[in-house]
Amino acid sequence: MKFHILTLFPEMIEQGLNNSIIKRAAEAGYLSVNAINIRDYTLDKHNKVDDYPYGGGAGMLMQAQPVYDAYKALVKEHEENNKKTPRVIFMTPQGRTFKQEIAQELAKEEELIFLCGHYEGIDERVLEEIVTDELSIGDYVLTGGELPAMVVIDTVARLIPGVLNNDESANDESFAGNLLEYPQYTRPEVWHDKKVPEVLLSGHHANIAKWRLEQSVERTKIKRPDMHEKYMEELEAYLREHPPKKKRRKKNANADEENVKEK
Ligand code: ADE
Repeated sequence: MKFHILTLFPEMIEQGLNNSIIKRAAEAGYLSVNAINIRDYTLDKHNKVDDYPYGGGAGMLMQAQPVYDAYKALVKEHEENNKKTPRVIFMTPQGRTFKQEIAQELAKEEELIFLCGHYEGIDERVLEEIVTDELSIGDYVLTGGELPAMVVIDTVARLIPGVLNNDESANDESFAGNLLEYPQYTRPEVWHDKKVPEVLLSGHHANIAKWRLEQSVERTKIKRPDMHEKYMEELEAYLREHPPKKKRRKKNANADEENVKEK
């Protein structure tokens, strides 16, 4: 997956995403992070990229021209090679609230372009021309779109096959199926007089899986009742479509004997 980020602060993206798992994944070729400095595309002789809003009001706005030219330079290559133009995601508190389901949807793309605003925003006309999606990371206002873009990129990146060590581990975690993650423990077995739950030491995989599911359900019920409700609805729908097979009762040996006698 190729992540392109149109920003006035490329070093923020480079520093923020060049660590740990994302760094390792980039080095191994599973993804790339391409931070593009919008300022490099300004035609202003003083390198200016912002101006006052028409109609007055607080702060400055990013101008359309440098944003558009940075975008055009990026997609020109796609157009020349008959490659699909990637979706352009504008990070804004006005967007759809980012959720794990959206991350799963985005992880299917081969490339994504993120547009990060700064100051009081971006001239509406360029947004109308290039933006395909708007995403918010929550109901609060940050100083720019870089942190939100990094949140989305990090979430999407770990869903790309190969990025995590174990392909399974992205499925098993919080929000994968409306359930929060179960509690986890590592060595030592006793710490501050607290012992690791016995079942986890048992080596009995089925019991461990059962315990973990119960813990997940219980936690979700307490911490995120909204998610628990969704989980229960989905579970009920699943069970309606896949009713559990009735266990066949073992034939009673005595009854068989009686049958034989009756005959
Ligand atoms: N830019 C500023 N605040 C934001 C938010 N909450 N989500 C996405 N982009 C933003």
